[in-house]
Amino acid sequence: RPRYTGLIERYRDRLPVNDDTRLISLGEGNTPLLKLNNIPKLIGKDVDIYVKYEGLNPTGSFKDRGMTMAVTKAVEDGSKAIICASTGNTSAAAAAYAARAGITAFVIIPDGKIAQGKLAQAMMHNAVVIQIKGNFDEGMQLVKEVAEHAPVTIVNSINPYRLQGQKTAAFEIVEELGRAPDYHCLPVGNAGNITAHWIGYCEYSSGCGEHVTEACAFCHGHCKYAGGAIVGNRPKMVGYQAAGSAPFMRGAMVDDPETVATAIRIGHPQSWDMAWKVKEESHGWFDECSDDEILAAQKLLAEKEGIFCEPASATSLAGALRDIKTGKIPEGSTVVCTLTGHGLKDPDIAIKQSTSPVITVSATLDSVREAIINNLAR
Ligand code: F0G
Repeated sequence: RPRYTGLIERYRDRLPVNDDTRLISLGEGNTPLLKLNNIPKLIGKDVDIYVKYEGLNPTGSFKDRGMTMAVTKAVEDGSKAIICASTGNTSAAAAAYAARAGITAFVIIPDGKIAQGKLAQAMMHNAVVIQIKGNFDEGMQLVKEVAEHAPVTIVNSINPYRLQGQKTAAFEIVEELGRAPDYHCLPVGNAGNITAHWIGYCEYSSGCGEHVTEACAFCHGHCKYAGGAIVGNRPKMVGYQAAGSAPFMRGAMVDDPETVATAIRIGHPQSWDMAWKVKEESHGWFDECSDDEILAAQKLLAEKEGIFCEPASATSLAGALRDIKTGKIPEGSTVVCTLTGHGLKDPDIAIKQSTSPVITVSATLDSVREAIINNLAR
């Protein structure tokens, strides 16, 4: 079997590269699709729930899928520097792929509002870290403005190559399941990822025939398939937001977004129009989860399935479990929840909410044995 060398190589014929393109890759993609064993039994529902563990990408989030594509194209176009605004994961990915390419990354982050692991990554990969006394949305606005005045390529998801890279997650899921799931649930911030998945499912099922008729607003002309008949099923796309940062639920932008899930602390989504289109075309919906629901789902997944994701990622499962319990997602369905980022990204929140007994004892056989006996029934 050929060595796996990243998603551009894997899906070369579906991505905007040619034979001469120098690929900037860290071996991203090809992430596990894990079937939940214990949680469906716990909630007493006959539903197949899979999680796509995007936390196992090289920098620990799905952003690597988009970043390999965006940085590859930036380098191909002769760019020497990239820039992004970020709640943390995009900055980690930008920093790593810039290091790999030998160019400079500038990252604009909300001061004090990104998880420690993500900050460590940006710093370790030697990005120029610009902390602003403002939130992601303000950072995004600044990035758009400064890119008109400085020689930098924006690698936020408004860069169309980002979504092209990210669409490959849908390809992997269809190939692994042999069909698309009935429901695909994602956490939503800027709504780039839910849009990218829909592009991927549409390309796979219809050769993009759908989008040709709708002016290919999604594909921006990059899709190499045109006019094909629909050959496969497509999922209902379900986007869950954190309640304090839920513009899609409000139907309007939110100026002061707040949530424990800092990755999706976003009030002005960049892919607003496209995400509404995804919802309509796929017959899906948006909903919101409270911070308590998000943290409970993160903990449940870690304790009952051995899978550790960051708080924002657990929003997909939190929402899906609620909709499965109420029957909005009916029994017999196949559901995929994307776990967008690894739990190690945000150790502070994890340690704060954990109820695991951490027992300090003297270094003697007796005290260790006592600690075991006292906790056997857990
Ligand atoms: N989950 C995680 C872990 C994220 O980091 C993000 C976005 C999302 C979900 C939402 O994805 O924006 O495509 O709807 N993080 C960006 C960042 C904003 O800067 O890292 P989306």
